[in-house]
Amino acid sequence: MTIGIIGLGAMGLGIAQVFAMAGHPVRATDANPETRATAPARLSDTLSARVAKGSLTEDEKTAILQRLVVTERVEDIAPADLVIEAVVERLAVKQSVFSLLEQYLAPGAVLATNTSSLSVGAIAQGLHRPDRVVGLHFFNPAPVMRLVELIPHAGTATDAVTIARSLTESAGKTVIQCADRPGFIVNRCARPYYGEALAMLEEGRDPGEIDAAMMAAGYRLGPFALIDLIGADINLAATEGLAAAMGHHPRYHVFTALKRQVESGHIGRKSLKGFVFPDNPPPPPADAATIALRIEATLANEAAWLLSEGGTTAEGIDTALKLGLNFPRGPFEALARHGRGTVLQTLARLEENAPPHLKSRYLPAPGLAP
Ligand code: NAI
Repeated sequence: MTIGIIGLGAMGLGIAQVFAMAGHPVRATDANPETRATAPARLSDTLSARVAKGSLTEDEKTAILQRLVVTERVEDIAPADLVIEAVVERLAVKQSVFSLLEQYLAPGAVLATNTSSLSVGAIAQGLHRPDRVVGLHFFNPAPVMRLVELIPHAGTATDAVTIARSLTESAGKTVIQCADRPGFIVNRCARPYYGEALAMLEEGRDPGEIDAAMMAAGYRLGPFALIDLIGADINLAATEGLAAAMGHHPRYHVFTALKRQVESGHIGRKSLKGFVFPDNPPPPPADAATIALRIEATLANEAAWLLSEGGTTAEGIDTALKLGLNFPRGPFEALARHGRGTVLQTLARLEENAPPHLKSRYLPAPGLAP
């Protein structure tokens, strides 16, 4: 099966590598001539690093590079059975790429979008064959991250979902299906990890202590160290995007502490200073378990809200958060560990003490309440 890739930036080239390494011929293009011209050399560099590490042979590297054909025109992608677009995150651009493509592709070909924040259904709107469109959300860096979220929209044909799943699984990925809802699984269910930590910061807690509490609970990075790694600016944009898409419900509240951090310019590793970067976390505080319970209770509640909206499973959500965020356990596994009663009590106490702007943030999801 031939794979087409539109957009050869960070994600597109990474996805091209995934499929070329799995033995598929890959035909790829980009609007920018320089990006097209440099793509083979960029892929070669990435593969050379694998050769140096001993995880790839020179012969394998040569074969992978030969499978990537960079074309100048979108039409030349046409033999592809599955096309994945990874162009800029703008609805109109993605729509125009697909509407041009569908004129040339075989009727059974699948059009997949790697969007992380747009609605898959909205991208499909206006196409002649919206039923061929599906979301395939890879994580960065695509060759390393095992998780791919598979997102059919309301009108996606069943066989398009099956083709997208089987090709992606055969390239070694763990594919988790979810509904065409804002943030899909990971970007949505991760919100309380940051948000609840920011709520505690605004209550006067020390960010290093919050991080230490989560690390003591088994998380590789605390919420603030994770924001510093991603960049507070990126985290703010993702939070604001989701808040808007979810009608500004207090569960997606954009905390002033995060906005102030971005305004200060101390956005994390890339600015050499963040919430906690470059400091090492202090020892966990005496109430570390209470902090971890609070964050895990809100993670479990958000996951339960998503589950109640349909289109995915509790196991799928757990797997997605473990693979997408390196969490030691999924939110439903955390729920089982603490017990439903303890989690509900924690949420009830938080709701009771919530300041006016957070009222109804902690109301339990339908599936959580007894
Ligand atoms: P990027 O900016 O590195 O690459 C985008 C590429 O698309 C550029 O090379 C650009 O020249 C090309 N392009 C723009 N318009 C085009 C068009 N009309 N036709 C052909 N090529 C066009 O962006 P990146 O980071 O690779 O992101 C691409 C997509 O993947 C976006 O939708 C983004 O939201 C999504 N995504 C990004 C992740 C990340 O961590 N960077 C993670 C998951 C999804």
